[in-house]
Amino acid sequence: MSTVDALKQRLLELKKERRAIILAHYYQRDEIQEVADFIGDSFGLSQQAAATDAEVIVFCGVHFMAESAAILSPDKIVLLPEPRAGCPMAAMVDVEGLRALKAQHPDAAVVSYVNTTAAVKAESDICCTSSNAIKVVNSLDAKKVIFTPDRNLGRYVARHTEKEVIVWEGYCHTHDHLTLEQLEQVKAQHPQALTVVHPECRPEVSAAADHVASTAGMLKFVRESEAAEFIVGTEAGILFMMRRQNPNKKFYLASPDLICPNMKANTLEKTVRALEHMEPRITVPDDIRRKAKQALDRMLAIK
Ligand code: 13P
Ligand code: SF4
Repeated sequence: MSTVDALKQRLLELKKERRAIILAHYYQRDEIQEVADFIGDSFGLSQQAAATDAEVIVFCGVHFMAESAAILSPDKIVLLPEPRAGCPMAAMVDVEGLRALKAQHPDAAVVSYVNTTAAVKAESDICCTSSNAIKVVNSLDAKKVIFTPDRNLGRYVARHTEKEVIVWEGYCHTHDHLTLEQLEQVKAQHPQALTVVHPECRPEVSAAADHVASTAGMLKFVRESEAAEFIVGTEAGILFMMRRQNPNKKFYLASPDLICPNMKANTLEKTVRALEHMEPRITVPDDIRRKAKQALDRMLAIK
């Protein structure tokens, strides 16, 4: 038996013993997606974390995702195989800065992308993910919205709402790195292909795409499209599910640099170790957790 197969087998045994569920984001390594109980985008993963009756959630994603699971399911043990797997964009907004901006715009509602710390969520009125950001913003009574931390998603939302959107200047290195020139080059090589990108890409990149959506939304578009070839503007890990769901379609990554090192920091070995030792655990202090949960619950309540 290969090492990978032995690790997968051990993981299955441990999962049963610990009454655990493995949640994985679409950007995780292929071998992790192969053993996961649920693979999803940030929104789907939050829904699963809130609904599961497992005792242990092994979160194969980045820190804010595991933290959201701990906020939504405080009675569960939440493990993050590599605790240093952070999201640099989530680190671009802090509570002090957000409070200062709120003081400048006391009439604005605060919408925070789930890619934020629990403390920032606790300072926010409602959370959103890339799959529901426009719906969340349009659901609010306020005419003015502070949107943190992603400037690209914020500007994308601003183009689809009547509300005034004050955008925090954060960004995702992985997506923001993709330029329109790079995309145009790949399009010229594959003129028959449709382009699908994540809204964390720059506005000019999103404007040049045929479809802009969350990871789950991109997968749905590709599945339902009659086109046979696609240029993909998001993290490379999504190709695993795109190819599995569409074995007869062809996919071209818009840039070879579309890799999130944090997402790739979780490995099968670390996932096995996490379940063996029941750590590293992700917890959130109760006062912050309660406030952050309100912002997440409000988002989950929007249909
Ligand atoms: P999704 O919610 O689309 O899965 O995106 C999460 C993320 O981190 C994108 O970089
Ligand atoms: Fe954060 Fe970007 Fe990685 Fe998503 S891809 S986890 S936004 S750094």
